[in-house]
Amino acid sequence: MIIGLPKEIKNNENRVALTPAGVSELVANGHTVYVQSTAGEGSGFSDEEYQSTGAKILATIEEVYAIGEMIVKVKEPIESEYKLVKENQLLFTYFHFASYKPLTEAMVASKAVCLAYETVEKNGGLPLLVPMSEVAGRMAIQKGANYLEKPLGGRGILLGGVAGVNPAKVLILGGGVVGTEAAKMAAGLGADVTIMDVSLPRLRYLSDVLPANVKTVMSNRYNIRELAKHADLIVGAVLIPGAKAPFLITRDMLKDLKKGCVLVDVAVDQGGCIETCKPTTHENPTYVIDNVVHYCVANMPGAVPYTSTLALTNATLPYVIQLANNGWKDACRADAGLKKGLNVVNGQIVYKSVADTFGMAHLPVEEIL
Ligand SMILES: NC(=O)c1ccc[n+]([C@@H]2O[C@H](COP(=O)([O-])OP(=O)(O)OC[C@H]3O[C@@H](n4cnc5c(N)ncnc54)[C@H](O)[C@@H]3O)[C@@H](O)[C@H]2O)c1
Repeated sequence: MIIGLPKEIKNNENRVALTPAGVSELVANGHTVYVQSTAGEGSGFSDEEYQSTGAKILATIEEVYAIGEMIVKVKEPIESEYKLVKENQLLFTYFHFASYKPLTEAMVASKAVCLAYETVEKNGGLPLLVPMSEVAGRMAIQKGANYLEKPLGGRGILLGGVAGVNPAKVLILGGGVVGTEAAKMAAGLGADVTIMDVSLPRLRYLSDVLPANVKTVMSNRYNIRELAKHADLIVGAVLIPGAKAPFLITRDMLKDLKKGCVLVDVAVDQGGCIETCKPTTHENPTYVIDNVVHYCVANMPGAVPYTSTLALTNATLPYVIQLANNGWKDACRADAGLKKGLNVVNGQIVYKSVADTFGMAHLPVEEIL
């Protein structure tokens, strides 16, 4: 198959959908990979590295879309790319269709085949979302520790303390992927960590696998209110699939928090679980309300494109190879989880919740496979 790797052109997007190692695997499987010049630059991969693994370099994005039977990307196509997408072309990338109707309409009109990373399933989970949650969870502690420094508005407390001085108290709301990674990082730095979840089986698991400086506590209004008063750093990491995150730290609770406490709301991309959190950017990541520092960057992994690219492509490459080797129809027939990634196919919306969101027509995916 001919695979096209365009450079991401969405604002501040430095990730790339294939590394030179990925290209090398595809070439070894008999495929041809065309890479847009400088596509990997933001993640630290040069054109020469891609060429050395067998890729052919093209100068423009137009050439990549024109030649590729499958286009592998990171972010959804933006408006200037819509006209480049062709009938029957396979696009494998994050789409998040339900959040943007013009994109959905454009992809329907293009008659392309849109396989969305975010809806691919495996063992009941979302394997192509996990890597970014891992990155964001780990970063939440790195950022939190940083903003706890006095010159950055924080309490001036060192996360791990030193001999004879207590470490900082870290409270993590949500014990899923983000919360677990945050707990591991905070514990590794020597903090006094509490992680909360509504799921008792999850708390049991966390209690078994996390180190001794991590306590597990059932998440409910009373417990959160009590523990928040003593916390130096609070990480918001809850998710209720398909719904807005509940507000676990409400506006009225801020007055009870420690002065210079830092809130990192990773769940901000789903509306946040801290009422006073509003999405911020890497250029201007924080603001202060009632002496409490708020960090609410909606695309945290974007700050570490090298790590994020490798983490993402480790998860996507096996699917890219399946798709290239077998074509999208056979690959989806053979893997029910991959089939769940199909959102728009040849002018039809085949993912029900996307169609429902916009009141558009839906064709069951079984009817096209
Ligand atoms: N800001 C970013 O850059 C960024 C990056 C990656 C992920 N995220 C977001 O982080 C959030 C968490 O993602 P995840 O992958 O860890 O999800 P996940 O599904 O793995 O974990 C969510 C956890 O929250 C728990 N939960 C639900 N309601 C709760 C409550 N009331 N109290 C305590 N826990 C509760 C669930 O039981 C689950 O264990 C999502 O909103 C995700 O979109 C943001």
